[in-house]
Amino acid sequence: MIKSHMNGMAGGNGVLYPIIGFSLCVAFIYMSFGDLWVDIRGETKLSFVERNGTQFMVDGKPFNINGWNSYWLMDHGVDESSRSRISAMLQAGAKMGLTVCRTWAFNDGGYNALQISPGRFDERVFRSLDHVIAEVRKHGIRLILSLVNNLQAYGGKTQYVQWAWEEGVGLSASNDSFFYDPSILRYFKSYVKTVLTRKNTLSGIEYRDDPTIFAWELINEPRCMTDASGDTLQDWIEEMSNFVKAIDRKHLLTVGLEGFYGPKSPKKLTVNTEFWAADLGSDFIHNSKISTIDFASVHIYPDHWSHTPDFEYKLKFISKWMLSHIEDGDKELKKPVMFTEFGLSTENKDFDPSQRDRFYKVILDIIYKSAKKQKSGAGAFVWQFLVEGMEKYNDDFLIVPWERPSTYRLFTEQSCRLARIQGSLPSQKEHLKRLCWQRR
Ligand SMILES: *[C@@H]1O[C@H](CO)[C@@H](O)[C@H](O)[C@H]1NC(C)=O
Ligand SMILES: *[C@@H]1O[C@H](CO)[C@@H](O)[C@H](O)[C@H]1NC(C)=O
Repeated sequence: MIKSHMNGMAGGNGVLYPIIGFSLCVAFIYMSFGDLWVDIRGETKLSFVERNGTQFMVDGKPFNINGWNSYWLMDHGVDESSRSRISAMLQAGAKMGLTVCRTWAFNDGGYNALQISPGRFDERVFRSLDHVIAEVRKHGIRLILSLVNNLQAYGGKTQYVQWAWEEGVGLSASNDSFFYDPSILRYFKSYVKTVLTRKNTLSGIEYRDDPTIFAWELINEPRCMTDASGDTLQDWIEEMSNFVKAIDRKHLLTVGLEGFYGPKSPKKLTVNTEFWAADLGSDFIHNSKISTIDFASVHIYPDHWSHTPDFEYKLKFISKWMLSHIEDGDKELKKPVMFTEFGLSTENKDFDPSQRDRFYKVILDIIYKSAKKQKSGAGAFVWQFLVEGMEKYNDDFLIVPWERPSTYRLFTEQSCRLARIQGSLPSQKEHLKRLCWQRR
C-alpha cells in the first residue's frame, strides 16, 4: 500500500527528494503501526477540561484540540468479534497526537440498541460504552459524547416520537414533536439521567464524575423546521441544558449545532450558503448564547449545503464560515467555538483525494492561527476516521488516515504545532517528542 503510494507520488513529480524523504518517514511510522510504543498508562491522572472565557484549559494551560469523529465505537464493543477495532482506532488516534474523539452515546431502538424502549437499557451495550470510556482513558484521550440524533440513524428523534405514538401518549406524528411533546421530553430526560449517572462497571466511576469525558453534546445536528422562528429549539436547549447541569456541573456542555445563522441574523445573507439555511429552526448565535451552554459547535459541509460544485468556491466558503463563527465566539458569545465535524465528500463529480488535503489544511490552519492568537476557534474534528475492514460503516466521508501519507502528515503536523504553542498533555508528552522529532 505504501509502496504504491510512493510510486504514484514520485511519478511525474518534479520535487522528488522532499517527497521521497517524507514518504519514507511516513512509511516508517506506518510500518511501526501497532507496535510503536506509546507511553500511555491507564493510571495517568486526568483532570477535567475547564473553560476560561473563549479558551479551554486543562491543568491551567490552554487546550486547543486536534480531534476526530468515530461515531461507531460503542456499537463495535458489543460483539467480541469487532471489539478490537476500538483500541485499534484509539491507538491510531493517540499515535497521531489527537486528543479528543467525538462519538455516539446513544443507540435508540434497532440493532444493538442501548435504549431498547423508553427507560429500558441493554446492559451488554452499556458495558460496551463503559469499555469505550475506559479504553479512551488508557490512551490519554478524551471524549465528546453525543446524547441523541436529530437524524434517523441509530434511532434519533424519529424513534422517540414513534415510542410515544406506540404507547398512546404521543401528541403528534411530527418528528419535531421530539422538541415539545411533554411525554417525549420526559423520555429524553430519563435517558440523559441514566447515562450521566451510570457507574462504569470497569472503573467504578460515574460518567458524570469522569474527566475522560471532555463534554456532553445534547443532540447531533438539531433542526426543527416546523418552527423556523427558532423558538421551539431554543426552549428545548434551555430546558435540557439546565437539566444536564442540575445533574452534572463538572462537564462542559454543547448543543451539537451545524452553525447556521437564523432568521433574525444579518449573517444569514452574507455567511449562510443559501437562503433555506436560515429556515431550519436553528439559530447559531441565539442557541449558543444560553448560559448553560459552555461552548459553541459548528459543522462544515459545503458539499451538502450548496449547489455550487466548484472546489475553489468551497475552499473560500470554509474560510469565511469558520472566521465568521470564530469572530462570533470572541465578540458575541465569549465562548470557545468547536468545529465538531468537517468533511469533503467522495461523491463530488470532480473528486480527487488531493482535494481533501487542501480542504483539511485550510481548516487546520485556521485553528492553528486561532490558537496562536488565543482566539475562540478552539478545535476541529474530522468526519470520520475508521480502521480497515469497516466498509459497511462507510459514508462518502470515510478516511483510514494511515492509508494516505499526505493526510496522515497533515494531522500529525497539526498535533505537533499545537503542542509547540500550548505544550502537550502529560499522557502524550513522550510520544509527541518522538512523533514531532520524526516530522522534521
Ligand atoms: C482567564 O483569562 C484571563 C484573561 O482572559 C486571565 O487574566 C486569567 O488569568 C485566566 N484565568 C485562569 C485561571 O487561567
Ligand atoms: C420522520 O422522519 C423519518 C425519517 O427521516 C421519515 O421517514 C418520516 O416520514 C418522518 N415523519 C413525519 C411524520 O414526517
